[in-house]
Order: sequence, then structure tokens, then C-alpha cells
Amino acid sequence: MKKCDCPLCKFNNPRPTNSAIIIKNGKLLLAKRVKEPFKGQWDFFGGYVEAGESIEESLIREVKEELGVESETSYLGSFPGTASYEDFTYPVLNFAYLTELEGEFRLDKKENSELKWVPIADVKDIAFDSNKKILKFIKEKFVYNWEDVKKLVFQLDSTAEVKEQSFYKAVLTGYVAKVEEGGRLLGMGWAFPRQTILRNQAIVEDMIVDESQRGKGLGEKILLDLIAQGKKDGVEVFELTTNPKRIAANGLYQKVGFRLHPTNNYLLDLR
Ligand SMILES: CC(C)(COP(=O)(O)OP(=O)(O)OC[C@H]1O[C@@H](n2cnc3c(N)ncnc32)[C@H](O)[C@@H]1OP(=O)(O)O)[C@@H](O)C(=O)NCCC(=O)NCCS
Repeated sequence: MKKCDCPLCKFNNPRPTNSAIIIKNGKLLLAKRVKEPFKGQWDFFGGYVEAGESIEESLIREVKEELGVESETSYLGSFPGTASYEDFTYPVLNFAYLTELEGEFRLDKKENSELKWVPIADVKDIAFDSNKKILKFIKEKFVYNWEDVKKLVFQLDSTAEVKEQSFYKAVLTGYVAKVEEGGRLLGMGWAFPRQTILRNQAIVEDMIVDESQRGKGLGEKILLDLIAQGKKDGVEVFELTTNPKRIAANGLYQKVGFRLHPTNNYLLDLR
């Protein structure tokens, strides 16, 4: 592979690219490439940023071109790597976005010959070195036993509907602590940080241990894990609210050091 020796390329600055991470029912949507490099290999949807576009605009355009549908994006991170054109190889910086398709899609066969949905944990390989890093990131963050998640949330609130995209966005914005055994999710808890003008604080939400596993120390383990994650990040104060009728939860919070903070807790429900 050659390197371009034009005056601009001597700086070796990366070209911006994007990857659309489309997940449904725990499965990733992959595209089979029709062009070199990596012709015939599986890839994420996405492509190069064009002059004058923001990264987000370029991703939405690429998804529209390749799948014929509008989309909504949430930033995941940037992943350096390389790409090539003809005999030249050059650095890229790949911006990955969790991408929600807004309707029915259809594959444009000029761009990709096939598509497939694969459970995240089963995706073995992907074209491009930057995408391999994204895949590793996704496997670390987004592999959940989806049925277990729903079962746990149902025990917390039997009327709650778990929306998959909201779940992944919560993974990105919050601290998550979980206890698993043999691939089964036994309990989880979340804390969402927020920097106010006064403090770096976090709010604990959605603490739940499967009813068959309660009283064995799992709730305490999850809560201490959340507190440790926040502490590492400089969180100064943790807060939470819980119904006084939740005897176990109130006992747990007091045991680890939460003290009742008398305040009026208001909600404005816009649903
Ligand atoms: C609250 C909950 C997460 C606690 O999980 P858990 O794994 O059962 O709790 P642990 O075994 O880790 O218990 C830790 C401490 O919590 C307190 N606690 C737990 N169960 C209790 C109970 N039934 N009564 C009073 N205190 C209790 C105790 O202080 C206990 O410490 P100890 O064992 O030294 O006495 C769990 O009961 C649950 O999922 N409840 C339903 C959902 C819920 O209420 N979530 C909180 C929403 S805000």
C-alpha cells in the first residue's frame, strides 16, 4: 500500500467517516459490501463525511442513501483506524452513532448487496480496523439478556414498557451495575450523573433484584458498585427517592449510608 506524498497528506490527518450502529431486539444490522476495500465482507452502514457536512448530517445522509429511511442518532464515540483507495492507504477517524431508523427500510443494492441481523455477541468479524474497535465497544456495553431485563423491570413496575433504544441511551449516559450468573441477569441498578452549578451529583434509579434472589446481598453489591463508579468520576452526592412502603429498599439505602433529606419532591408529568 502506498502513501500519498502530496503537500497536504504529509500531515497524515485522518479523514472523518461514520458508522451507524443499528440494533433491534439485541441484533445488529450489518451490510455486505459491494465495493473494495473489503468487497464481500460485512460492514456497518455508513461512509465518508462530505465537505460542508457535520458528522451527524453525513450519517443521516448515508443511512438515507443506503436504506432509504430517515434516522435519529446518539453519539457513541470516535474510533481511529485506516482505510484505502486504489493503492493508497490513509488514516480515518470513524464516528459511531447509535442509530434509530424512523420507519420501514429497503436496501439499496448499489451500495450493499445484502443485509442481515445478527445477535451482538455473535458478530465475529467486521470490515475495517476502526469498526473492529466499535464492535468491541458495543459488545462491552450493549450485550444484555433482553428477556431478563424486561422481567426485572416488570418486577419494579408492572405497567412500565421498556423501550430498547431508551435502554441503550441510558447505558450511554448512566452508570450501570449488574449481577449475572450463567448468562442470567439476577439484578441491576442505574445511576445518572448530572453536573449542577453547585455539585457533581448522581441519582440512583431502577434498583432491582430478581425476587428469587433477594436477601442474599446482591442489592447491596449493586448499590456499592454504582457508588464506586460515581466516586471514580468525581460524583460528590448521590440522591434517590423511594416509596416509604418499599421496606427492603429503604433498609438497603440506609444501610449503605443514605440519610433522609426532607424536601418537597415535585413532578410535572408531560406524558
Ligand atoms: C431493594 C432490593 C433491590 C434489595 O435487594 P436485596 O438483594 O434483596 O438486598 P440485600 O440482600 O443486598 O440486602 C442489603 C440490606 O438491605 C436491607 N434489606 C434487604 N431486604 C430487607 C427487608 N426485606 N427488610 C428490611 N431490610 C432489608 C438490609 O439492611 C440488608 O442488610 P442486612 O442483610 O445486613 O440486613 C430488592 O429488595 C428489590 O429488588 N426490591 C423490589 C424493587 C425495589 O423496591 N427497588 C427499589 C426501588 S427505589
